[in-house]
Amino acid sequence: MSDSVRFLLDGKIREVKDVEPTRTLLSWLRYEMQRTGTREGCAEGDCGACTVIVGERTGETIVYKAVNACILFLPTLQGRELLTVESLRGGDGTLHPVQQALVDHHGSQCGFCTPGIVMSLYALSLSHKGPPDLEEINQALAGNLCRCTGYGPIITAAQKMHEYPAPHPEISLADRVRLLKSLESKAGFSLTGESGYFAPATKGDLARLVMEYPEATLLAGGTDVGLMVTKQHRDLGTVIYLGNVRELQEIDERDGTLHIGAGVTYARAIDHIARHYPDFGTIIRRIGATQVRNQGTLGGNIANGSPIGDCPPCLIALGAGLKLRRGAESRIIDLEDYFLTYGKQDLRAGEFIEEIILPLPEENQQFIAYKISKRFDQDISALCMGMSFRQDGERRRHVRIAFGGMAEIPKRATACETALEGAIWQQSGVEQAMTALEKDFTPLSDMRATAQYRLQVAKNLILKVWLGAGHD
Ligand SMILES: Cc1cc2nc3c(=O)[nH]c(=O)nc-3n(C[C@H](O)[C@H](O)[C@H](O)COP(=O)(O)OP(=O)(O)OC[C@H]3O[C@@H](n4cnc5c(N)ncnc54)[C@H](O)[C@@H]3O)c2cc1C
Ligand code: FES
Ligand code: FES
Repeated sequence: MSDSVRFLLDGKIREVKDVEPTRTLLSWLRYEMQRTGTREGCAEGDCGACTVIVGERTGETIVYKAVNACILFLPTLQGRELLTVESLRGGDGTLHPVQQALVDHHGSQCGFCTPGIVMSLYALSLSHKGPPDLEEINQALAGNLCRCTGYGPIITAAQKMHEYPAPHPEISLADRVRLLKSLESKAGFSLTGESGYFAPATKGDLARLVMEYPEATLLAGGTDVGLMVTKQHRDLGTVIYLGNVRELQEIDERDGTLHIGAGVTYARAIDHIARHYPDFGTIIRRIGATQVRNQGTLGGNIANGSPIGDCPPCLIALGAGLKLRRGAESRIIDLEDYFLTYGKQDLRAGEFIEEIILPLPEENQQFIAYKISKRFDQDISALCMGMSFRQDGERRRHVRIAFGGMAEIPKRATACETALEGAIWQQSGVEQAMTALEKDFTPLSDMRATAQYRLQVAKNLILKVWLGAGHD
């Protein structure tokens, strides 16, 4: 137990005492440290004004990622490195290349968004050798909202930032790695105080803690949990942080199956999944924006039970399983059985999601997925569909179709599947399958879409698969 959180900032170890478990990093930076370069716009992970960089040691190097400070709890920084826009200040007052490029190419008008944009581009430059291409720049900036400059000059600055001389680091990588190592503990980390905060280092310790505190809030990436604090002002009670359990962050391919630890972030999962299922990769690539994908986890996307989470329809269509752990016991269930009714999942007191089990493609298997939302990036689905089948001449077999946004839970379209199963792949059959969706779903109207729209678009997605798949 410790009464303080310790992390690296500007090359020095910082010790912060008496930290509330749900104190946001943004609030601490602005109100305790007067590091007001990090801005508050939306306080819900949407605008990127609060973008900072968090570094995590991996072997003898440090992996840096842009994250939103508004939904990041300060204690999760324990043992990590933090970089804010003030960290870029050269000792002699010179601007960092990213900043100088923005000045030279007129990338800032009112300046409100600028520190966040600087940090997103700085994170891009840290993870990228040489000049990034336009797609990479767009990806890096998709989570940064600028209302007045317009993105043209900002993108030009991003294309030019590598042409400026690189600043000399004030502290070497080896020294930073050494300092981070000195903050690590095999026994995990916990904070003293009335409402507890635990950050176990092993799956065994996590299982023990979840059994001991079955009412605790499990915190993974915090892209949902953070908003419970900043928007709903909820008291989360005891918090158990999963982000230090390395075993939960493993991805392993064996026996024709991809085993994805529940704590694997979207950013890490994309390549592993896209290699086998490119459409699923595209769906993950469209979740939130870079900052959200750097924090959010696949386990969190399932555990929150949302009817509009983007991964469950894909995973259900692919026949994925879920490994759940309670104390020393584990059980494996089909993911589709995890979602019971709205807000209720098959998760017992003291249990947590350990792993997602994703079968790899069989011969002739095809997987197609579509996400429908008002914007391409940084938007929640109105509906999302995953469809898997095996091509057998002119017939489709083993058809599995699942939708998000069409019911109170992510759900299979069984009547539609039956209409397509083993049938000849022709327009009349596809039209029957489209009509069958009326039996499968009675969607709701909400601010994202009307019930009528949802049903019509769902039908159109089936038609789109047929039109796009090549047929006589
Ligand atoms: C700006 C923004 C954009 C977003 N865009 C999208 C989008 O496009 N598509 C989409 O699907 N989602 C989107 N989300 C929602 C969010 O990113 C996901 O739901 C995310 O996957 C949650 O994962 P997390 O690791 O952040 O979970 P957390 O917020 O840490 O936890 C979410 C819930 O799951 C529980 N939990 C977490 N891990 C486990 C576990 N291993 N076992 C048991 N319970 C657990 C927590 O207790 C909590 O109830 C967005 C969120 C934000 C803030
Ligand atoms: S303040 Fe908008 S993303 Fe954090
Ligand atoms: S410069 Fe004004 S919001 Fe971007």
